[in-house]
Amino acid sequence: MLKIDRLNFSYGDLKVLWDIDLEVHQGEIVTVVGANGAGKSTTLKNVSRLVTWSSGTITFNGTDLGKLEPHEVVGMGIVQVPEGRKIFPEMTVLENLRMGSFIRSARPDREANIDRVFALFPRLKEREKQLGGTMSGGEQQMLAIARGLMANPKLLLLDEPSLGLSPLLVKFIFDIIQEINRQGVTVLLVEQNVYQSLRIAHRAYVLETGRVVLTGGGEELLNNEHVKKAFLGM
Ligand SMILES: Nc1ncnc2c1ncn2[C@@H]1O[C@H](COP(=O)(O)OP(=O)(O)OP(=O)(O)O)[C@@H](O)[C@H]1O
Ligand SMILES: [Mg+2]
Repeated sequence: MLKIDRLNFSYGDLKVLWDIDLEVHQGEIVTVVGANGAGKSTTLKNVSRLVTWSSGTITFNGTDLGKLEPHEVVGMGIVQVPEGRKIFPEMTVLENLRMGSFIRSARPDREANIDRVFALFPRLKEREKQLGGTMSGGEQQMLAIARGLMANPKLLLLDEPSLGLSPLLVKFIFDIIQEINRQGVTVLLVEQNVYQSLRIAHRAYVLETGRVVLTGGGEELLNNEHVKKAFLGM
């Protein structure tokens, strides 16, 4: 579905991604794990076309994303939930959700999708008239994911959805990601919570200073000696 091939990227003189190869197949949850500054968010930003790579290719079902604008990438069904939530603080929960279905292809499904995301996140339904900015951190994260789902993603890009959440909420968010995937959405998840993300991932990539150093099944990498030492404190 998504194929990243020998991707190189720099912010000005600072080279951040080195020959990244990464694939996501339809129906999978794929996770990219790595330390702060490894290049996880930058990888997602390249897929969303928010930045422009210097060499390599990214294709989605065979279409070269390099020629597309960010809104055209969304139109193809690739929807990014950015790091740090970035909901609209002055809008209500419901208004935030409606903003998520701005692309033409998602508009006819708007009301059905609102029902669908309220079923996943009952807490958002209880707070549908509350201003986004007054929601708790965890609720804002739920809203950000819910808003992403409003665009009818085929591939959902999630950047650190568990950041700053309590252990209970972290568990809830990872359960929800699995449920979204069961409903037919392919997921590319970027996380520092290595244990939880490998636990739910079909496959995973370990990124270190802009290079893929390991790849394998989620379960397999959970038992990998390097991963245990570097990320799991074992
Ligand atoms: N807009 C930018 N301009 C210049 N350098 C940047 C920019 N954004 C990120 N970088 C640098 O690129 C490198 C990779 O950053 P990136 O945000 O992709 O890392 P990350 O793996 O997502 O880290 P984190 O876990 O902290 O979110 C870092 O060294 C960072 O300082
Ligand atoms: Mg990041």
